[in-house]
Amino acid sequence: MSRSLDDAQVAGRRVLLRADLNVPMQGGQVSDATRLERLVPTIKELADKGAKVVVLSHFDRPKGKVVPEMSLAPIAGALAKVLGHNVSFAPDCIGPVAEEAVAKLNNGDVLVLENTRFHAGEEQNDPDFAFALAKLGDLYVNDAFSAAHRAHASTEGVAKHLPSFAGRLMQAELHALEKALGNPARPVAAIVAGSKVSTKLDLLNNLVAKVDILVIGGAMANTFLAAQGLNVGKSLQEPALHETAREILRAAAAKGCEVILPQDVVVAEVFAANPHTHVVKVDAIPPSMMALDVGPATVEAFIHRLPHIKTLIWNGPLGAFETKPFDASTNLLAAAIAKATQEGKIISVGGGGDTVSALKLAGVHGDLTYLSSAGGAFLEWMEGKVLPGVIALSKDLSNMG
Ligand code: 3PG
Repeated sequence: MSRSLDDAQVAGRRVLLRADLNVPMQGGQVSDATRLERLVPTIKELADKGAKVVVLSHFDRPKGKVVPEMSLAPIAGALAKVLGHNVSFAPDCIGPVAEEAVAKLNNGDVLVLENTRFHAGEEQNDPDFAFALAKLGDLYVNDAFSAAHRAHASTEGVAKHLPSFAGRLMQAELHALEKALGNPARPVAAIVAGSKVSTKLDLLNNLVAKVDILVIGGAMANTFLAAQGLNVGKSLQEPALHETAREILRAAAAKGCEVILPQDVVVAEVFAANPHTHVVKVDAIPPSMMALDVGPATVEAFIHRLPHIKTLIWNGPLGAFETKPFDASTNLLAAAIAKATQEGKIISVGGGGDTVSALKLAGVHGDLTYLSSAGGAFLEWMEGKVLPGVIALSKDLSNMG
């Protein structure tokens, strides 16, 4: 287990804080500040304890080159607003520019360094680049769970040079995920949905071995239905994965995991906003139509199961939620899960980019036990993979704190 801020002596010391400032931007403005808000407890705690806080992050994918539109400068400004605290900015993350900016810091100051991915050494996890970053700090705090699936210099390499600690957000993410999948209260159910089975194979294979109930929704459910010989009309599906889908169902049966597939679906001739729709049983999908959401009977059936479930993991919206009315089942289920959570009946953990957006649109993103700020990292954790950024924290080479 990694050490937390409780174990770190930070007063008067330079703390290299790996944050994930990879936030959505529109027209040069941060359009969703959730990730910044989630960093506030760690930054405030460090600043209040008198640390000199040096924030490292990537933004977007500039591929080792300086891309001015991918500068962290506007995000540093947005962070200052969210923090209610002055934040300075240095236009490079290593070398004399960064070193001078760090040398000017007083205790309690916060500095953001320019995008680590402007240097090729970041993604290559180049030891010299990691060392150049490490020179800027006395200790390293990683609060970027959402980037912990990347073995990059600022998420992994730097921990080899400095005493390393998990920040409060990292701790909260790990705690919530451990409660959901590591050692959950049972029965545990997982809802896995989204458009393609092919992108969630590892997830499905890991979950059938760990959960008691697996609900499959979204267009990926069409592949499972078609694999069982049903005609899914014009629905999005992956014929090449029919055998794989059958293997997953066999593995689930062998492990005692109940798989719930849709019993009814909402179909339309075209995928567009507010077209003419019908609700049909899955064995009656007309050849000219496509399934765009799971049907009300499917959602109702699962909602009836909720009182018998103790832990619930959710990854992926049930339908094409960005286009109305195909958000209906996701909204209905989200409301039921939020209610059961608020009444203390279940522990619910959601994650993944689309899931977070869908829960926000449903107006319940604050009502789950925990909503991960991570996309890819959440998925890899749920797939049972080891995250290099997490492992690095438990085996840094220094014993000093
Ligand atoms: C994310 O937004 O999921 C993380 O910041 C990782 O970004 P990446 O997929 O560009 O590595």
